[in-house]
Amino acid sequence: MHDVAFVNAHLATMSHGELRDAVLAVSGDRISWVGARSEWHEKARVEHDARGAWITPALIDCHTHLVYAGNRAHEFELRLNGATYEEIARAGGGILSTVQATRAASEDELVRAAQKRLGQWQREGTAVIEVKSGYGLERDTELRMLRAARRLQGLEVKTTFLGAHALPPEYKGRADEYIDLVCDILEEGARLGLIDAVDAFCERIAFTPEQTRRLFLKARALGLPVKLHADQLSDSGGAALAADHDALSADHIEFAAEEGIRRMKESGTVGVLLPGAFYFLNEKQLPPIETLRRHGVPIALATDHNPGSSPLCSPLLVLNMACTLFRLTPQEALAGMTCNAAHALGIERTHGTLEVGKRADVALWEVASPAELAYAIGANPCVGVMRNGAFPRAAT
Ligand code: NIG
Ligand code: FE
Repeated sequence: MHDVAFVNAHLATMSHGELRDAVLAVSGDRISWVGARSEWHEKARVEHDARGAWITPALIDCHTHLVYAGNRAHEFELRLNGATYEEIARAGGGILSTVQATRAASEDELVRAAQKRLGQWQREGTAVIEVKSGYGLERDTELRMLRAARRLQGLEVKTTFLGAHALPPEYKGRADEYIDLVCDILEEGARLGLIDAVDAFCERIAFTPEQTRRLFLKARALGLPVKLHADQLSDSGGAALAADHDALSADHIEFAAEEGIRRMKESGTVGVLLPGAFYFLNEKQLPPIETLRRHGVPIALATDHNPGSSPLCSPLLVLNMACTLFRLTPQEALAGMTCNAAHALGIERTHGTLEVGKRADVALWEVASPAELAYAIGANPCVGVMRNGAFPRAAT
């Protein structure tokens, strides 16, 4: 006897293709049956008529900076008048202006602001969201951001420590010493159980490959997986560096060289593409999609939600932008926010596909085909979402 069965549904399993007129059953917090309706001879305590809806794994947003205070609308205006993201950052704005606001915010304020933003992810069928620190750049605020992320409700949150996001002004000219501090905060955050993964910004306006390597060695010694903001504005060899440390993912990678991508394949590192940042910064360098495909590197997609480069609150719009801007197929886009996003968070054994034994995180969509999820702009065809075998809000 299963707990719940969705009947009269079509399934995009993301592991065994599409199943029309199918049944998906759930017991406890797990998927307990998947197959054609004609083969369904079992029973469930509750039957949900999906009325022909498509069911997909609930979406996974594997790269966000959701916790922060303030916003950077004024920098948007500066950029519209010709300033570049890099120029603003070098002049002390950019990430550092959000650092000022975030340092001044209490934990409760950070939770409230992030929780409010999170509503849109819930409405658009998301079950898991990764949230980075990185707007504290000192011990207390970094840990406060991570605690705030852990307190968010309604979605499963994976926390990533991004202490190496930018050099704080008080460490000007002393980046190596700052990395020492980041390693100390990392150790404390890990001991407190606040950190699921470690990230860094390896870039000419942030940290060098050598500094990144030092942090990664520390993370690996603590048993934590790493990720990297790699090759976003220039080729810093970030993709290869990430692969060298068996990173879960290398993210952005617009400027990544082929050798880096070959190494990503070897180490099982996912390429995370962030079309929101590409769009909002009006970037011109496309990520190396063909090279990723040719080497068979899994492609994930994410909002990169943050106040500077991607104030984007819609996972569905990411699917659309990945197709229009990066020429992904709608199928590749959906994989990018389900099975491949699970890989990018190291949770692929439990999340990201509709398979028996996997976590019962599913989304129901009123669409005629899954490709429609990437097609519409500003529409929300989500008619229900189940997370952990329960309905955070009623399926309609
Ligand atoms: O992923 N590249 C660095 N970090 C963010 C931007 C953060 C910010 O501008 O506040 C990103 O694009
Ligand atoms: Fe980012």
